[in-house]
Amino acid sequence: MSSTPSDARFPDDFVFGVATSAYQVEGDIENDWSDWERAGKLKDPQARCGDAVQHWARFFDDVPLISALGATAYRLSIEWARVEPRRGHFDEAAWAGYRARLEALVKAGITPVVTFHHFTHPRWFHQETPWHEPASLGAWQRYVTRCAALLDGLDVVVTTLNEPNVLLLGGYLAAQMPPGLADGRKAFAAFANLVRAHVLARQALRDRGHRAPVGIAQNLLRFAPARRWHPLDQALQRLADANYNHAFLEALKTGVLQLQMPGFTAGRERIDGAEDSTDFTGVNYYTRAHLRFLARPPFVDFSFRDVHRRGLTDLGWEWFPEGFGETLRQVQRYGKPVWVTENGLDDRAGSRRVAYLRAHLAQVLEARRDGVDVRGYLHWSLMDNFEWLEAWAPRFGLYRVDRDTMARTWTPACDEFRRVATGRVL
Ligand code: FCB
Repeated sequence: MSSTPSDARFPDDFVFGVATSAYQVEGDIENDWSDWERAGKLKDPQARCGDAVQHWARFFDDVPLISALGATAYRLSIEWARVEPRRGHFDEAAWAGYRARLEALVKAGITPVVTFHHFTHPRWFHQETPWHEPASLGAWQRYVTRCAALLDGLDVVVTTLNEPNVLLLGGYLAAQMPPGLADGRKAFAAFANLVRAHVLARQALRDRGHRAPVGIAQNLLRFAPARRWHPLDQALQRLADANYNHAFLEALKTGVLQLQMPGFTAGRERIDGAEDSTDFTGVNYYTRAHLRFLARPPFVDFSFRDVHRRGLTDLGWEWFPEGFGETLRQVQRYGKPVWVTENGLDDRAGSRRVAYLRAHLAQVLEARRDGVDVRGYLHWSLMDNFEWLEAWAPRFGLYRVDRDTMARTWTPACDEFRRVATGRVL
């Protein structure tokens, strides 16, 4: 027996896994994002997701790559546009394709962590019934009823929604993602409907007899005042933490959605069925942001600072593992088990991922020592993929992907992940 104290180890039932989302890896999908790309809205207006990294076509060859990491969970998403390319018209072959892929994972001893919604929508959804319209929920209800049937008899974990806060900010308040709105009133209505969407999805699973744990994957940023002494920067920090990080999670706990973003949106609404509607808290943690109040629109300056001179990541995000520990301790307030549903970095040379992984896993161990019930850690990402507005420049993968040949290459971070996942110590 090793002499490592038990709180310095990951217990045997702690789950190590990896994550992706459909649009970012599968390839050949037509949806609201492919339209967004054609409209020239990415940082590089010529960039396209296109065939992504051909994960749909290569799925069955990619499964052994997941196993080779010692991973026993794989977070993936269902692409709504693939299974319902036209409103009300399901593509049965696509549903069967997902079923075969989920079964292949289970057969390989990998628990699927299935996300129903990861930023993208069928083209018709945002054209006809965006989230601020009540009819959005009818379309969603039909879709999640089929998702529930897809999972029959499978042992899975479900994240209904990925980062609704990012979708709402980017898509409904800042016009940076589809549907490209910047409208406080519509954003509040969309926010409330996404809370309802989570409730409906969980209900669809329960109606079908599924006992799977159900939650959302929330983007949680650490916030800091740009000027530590400045009361308005401090006020911004509090507002950002409450509205961006916690409003959605609070709604799923208390049943009340409350937003207070002066100049952007505000409102309060009780949402039927939302009270105590999650089984775990899904944490996507990457970095910390500094906020500075500006006297003129847009009123907020948002920046990443290299406070500790550790070097920013290649996307320019602060390297701040301490914030991960703080975040894990903070979400204890929800009183549910915690899953790290994403954590990782853009590391184009592949020289820093081992250190990042170690520093962040150390925070998981520390949080567990402090009593936070962290059940699993899913690294973003299994392999390099399409990074939304930034397209192909970032590299988040444990496996490096050559997009000319589509070859997946093992990296030193794969070794490290495997060592920890199988050895259970850092
Ligand atoms: C998260 C997204 C994920 C990926 C990472 C880098 O916000 O959920 O799709 O883009 O960031």
